[in-house]
Amino acid sequence: MFEQNRRVFLQRLATLTGGVVLVPFVTACGRGASPESPVSPPTEPVAPGIPVVPVTKPEGWDPIAFNKIRGNAGAIPESYLPSINGPDGEMKHLGKHLPFVPAVDAALVPPGYLALMWGDAGKGYARHPNAARSEEKPAGHWYNWIRIRKAVAGDAEELESAYSEWPGIADGDNGAYAVFGGGEITDDGGRNTIYLAALPTDLNPGDTIRIYAHCLTHGEYVDFLTV
Ligand SMILES: [Fe+2]
Repeated sequence: MFEQNRRVFLQRLATLTGGVVLVPFVTACGRGASPESPVSPPTEPVAPGIPVVPVTKPEGWDPIAFNKIRGNAGAIPESYLPSINGPDGEMKHLGKHLPFVPAVDAALVPPGYLALMWGDAGKGYARHPNAARSEEKPAGHWYNWIRIRKAVAGDAEELESAYSEWPGIADGDNGAYAVFGGGEITDDGGRNTIYLAALPTDLNPGDTIRIYAHCLTHGEYVDFLTV
C-alpha cells in the first residue's frame, strides 16, 4: 500500500516545482511497513528513576521543563547534560529537539504520514542538524525512531517509524525523508530534513498526539502536538 502511495506521491512531485522533494529510498523494494500494517507495539524503555512518559498531555504541559527533568534523570546522555543545563540550554539544546510540523503543502505528504522537523525557529529554537556517520561522529546524528500515538488514556495504537540511516532510508525502515524547500537533504548541515513519520489510523482532525522520539546523539524527547 505504501509503495502505491509513494508512487502517487512521486507523480505529484513530478508535476510540481520547488517545495518539498522526497528523498529516494536507498532500495526501491524495501519491506517498509505501511500505516495500515502497524509495527509491533514498542516497549517503553523505562529505567529506574526516569519519569514515565505520560500518555495524555498534562495540564500546563511544559516540554522544555519535562524533557530537562527526564533528561537529567537519564533520558539524555551525560555528555549532553552540561549543554541542556547551561545558559543556552532551553533554546539551543532542548528546544532544538522538540518536534514541529513544518509549513509544507499537505498534498506533498503521503497519506497516513506526518511531516516533522525538530527545533522550531519560529519559537527561537535552534534548528536540529542531521549528520551521517563519520570518523568524527561514529554514531551519526539524526532521529533513529519516532513513536506516535493518540494522546488518550488507555490503549491506543502506537506506530514507530524507523530511520536506521541518514541521509538515505535503509532497507527495512518504514520512515521516509523529504527536504524542506527542495535542494539536497545534506544542505545546511541537514537542517532541512523532514521526517515523514507514520500516523496511527485512529486519529481524527484536531486530535492531540504524543510524539516520543530518539536522537542518536542526544537522547529521548517527548512532546504533544495537535494535528
Ligand atoms: Fe540531536
